[in-house]
Amino acid sequence: MRRPVIAGNWKMNPPTLDEAISLARAVAAVSAPLDGIDVVVCPPAVWLTAVAGELAGSGVAVGAQTMHHEERGAFTGETSPLMLAGLASYVILGHSERRQYDGETDEGVARKVASAVAHGLRPIAAVGERLDERRSGATEAVIDRQLRAAVSGLDTIAGSGLVIAYEPVWAIGTGEAAEPSDAQSVARQIRGILHERFGDDAGDVPIQYGGSVTADNAAAFLALPDVDGALVGGASLKPEQFAAILAAAAG
Ligand code: PGA
Repeated sequence: MRRPVIAGNWKMNPPTLDEAISLARAVAAVSAPLDGIDVVVCPPAVWLTAVAGELAGSGVAVGAQTMHHEERGAFTGETSPLMLAGLASYVILGHSERRQYDGETDEGVARKVASAVAHGLRPIAAVGERLDERRSGATEAVIDRQLRAAVSGLDTIAGSGLVIAYEPVWAIGTGEAAEPSDAQSVARQIRGILHERFGDDAGDVPIQYGGSVTADNAAAFLALPDVDGALVGGASLKPEQFAAILAAAAG
């Protein structure tokens, strides 16, 4: 059975190493008593080593926010899967901010997901429609296209540790979360596509909801039959908020 995965996406925060360490310490403290969920923090790449060191043995996993699909080479500014070995066990791929600001494409996400799995990293592959796409009734088509592309390089998902994050772009950082019923119908669509591609292994894939998840609304998303976790941005920088989200997931 799948375990809920609650991941904190710190994005380009916090600005100092000391703050990153204290945030990691605070997450470890609030996670310690909780059972039955996987807790992940995804700091900026420059803080990965220190945060991984701080969290060693705490039960809180570390994730990267992106990576390059190649192991090495002339790719200025990039981080390779080999560099993440021993530091991160997860990697967020295809986040809408990278699609929007860094030109990440469906094909690029596919290469990264395949590379992550090949290197023993659990991909958190993010999909989600923009506001204009939602308004024009294209949500289902966008999810279908992004998801099929993201997993196109995988022959099987058994043992891959794959996680899918459904993040409607218009809900990210806006304080306007999706309606839980909408999140459930997209999560069910995602589960259906995975089932069609990979059979019963689809039942093992945690599907997260992300987009303005807070201590107040987390329980409603986590209670949905096809939602097994959350990808949390803003609230993951506030230890009391993140703690409440974790507690909702642990039930
Ligand atoms: P948010 O970000 O929780 O601040 O909306 C979510 C995300 O981008 O993963």
